[in-house]
Amino acid sequence: MKITIIGSGNVGTYCASFLAQKDIVNKIILIDVKKNISKGKSLDISQMIPLTGSNTKIYGYTDDYLKSKNSEIIVVTCGMPRKKGMSRDDLVDINSKIISNVVKEAINLSPNAKFIIVSNPLDIMTYIGYIKSNISSNKIIGMAGILDTARYRFFLSKKIGISPIDIQSLLIGGHGDTMVPLYRYTSISGIPIKEFISEVENEEIINKTKKAGEELVNYLGTSAWFAPSVSIVNMIESILKDSKRIFSCSSFLNGEYGINGIFLGVPVILGKNGVDKILELKLNSNEMKLFHKSAINVKNIIKKLSI
Ligand code: LAC
Repeated sequence: MKITIIGSGNVGTYCASFLAQKDIVNKIILIDVKKNISKGKSLDISQMIPLTGSNTKIYGYTDDYLKSKNSEIIVVTCGMPRKKGMSRDDLVDINSKIISNVVKEAINLSPNAKFIIVSNPLDIMTYIGYIKSNISSNKIIGMAGILDTARYRFFLSKKIGISPIDIQSLLIGGHGDTMVPLYRYTSISGIPIKEFISEVENEEIINKTKKAGEELVNYLGTSAWFAPSVSIVNMIESILKDSKRIFSCSSFLNGEYGINGIFLGVPVILGKNGVDKILELKLNSNEMKLFHKSAINVKNIIKKLSI
């Protein structure tokens, strides 16, 4: 079982190290254009493995896509991360060219791979990956909703004073300011959230969640990596083990929620074929309005693409 991670920056390498520690794949390939960076990082992770106890082998290469041949899953983390003062959408021009080239190279060598796209702006980059690879839409998935939901669970756990582990929730829509909260679908150990906080109080937490990525960019000077990487590994694990976990992922909509032809965060069942099924929730009119606002934002960016 071979997984390729393209991009040996913070997200790509932390993802490789966390995945290696899980001991669920034979081989991880790290690829980056920057000379020797993948080699160095993969060696460092390989030297950690005797201590953590795993049989995974990690190899790093400079821009050598041949080494990704016949991967089961390809994770695309490359491209420019956000810097202070930038929105995710500001990265569209530079990252669309990068993602376009990377996906074309990778799909030729691994025609059966599933792709997990992580580069920003996420919903747009996943769309570009889909168009350029020409694979079936269930096999290309964007990582964002799972991360946004984890952040929301963290903020909510602090507010209520309970363990984040017991919070069940889903955030859908775009990865950014237009993410859609689902207060009605949130519970704590099966107890509806309304027993703990009001919808107005929840709104404050949602606003913090929307700004969570930006808050981290302000502290770190670049975008986050620990929570994003673990989110990717959760998705990889559900695909490899065919666990059929339900996560919010950026997925291709073909009429679901009344939307066609774009990628947007929705609850999906993740299994060995990628997206096994998109779950179509019965949104109320306000939730649907917010979801469609998210879709319009994504569509407007796609209209301006020059790829
Ligand atoms: C973030 C990046 C991964 O939200 O978009 O931190």
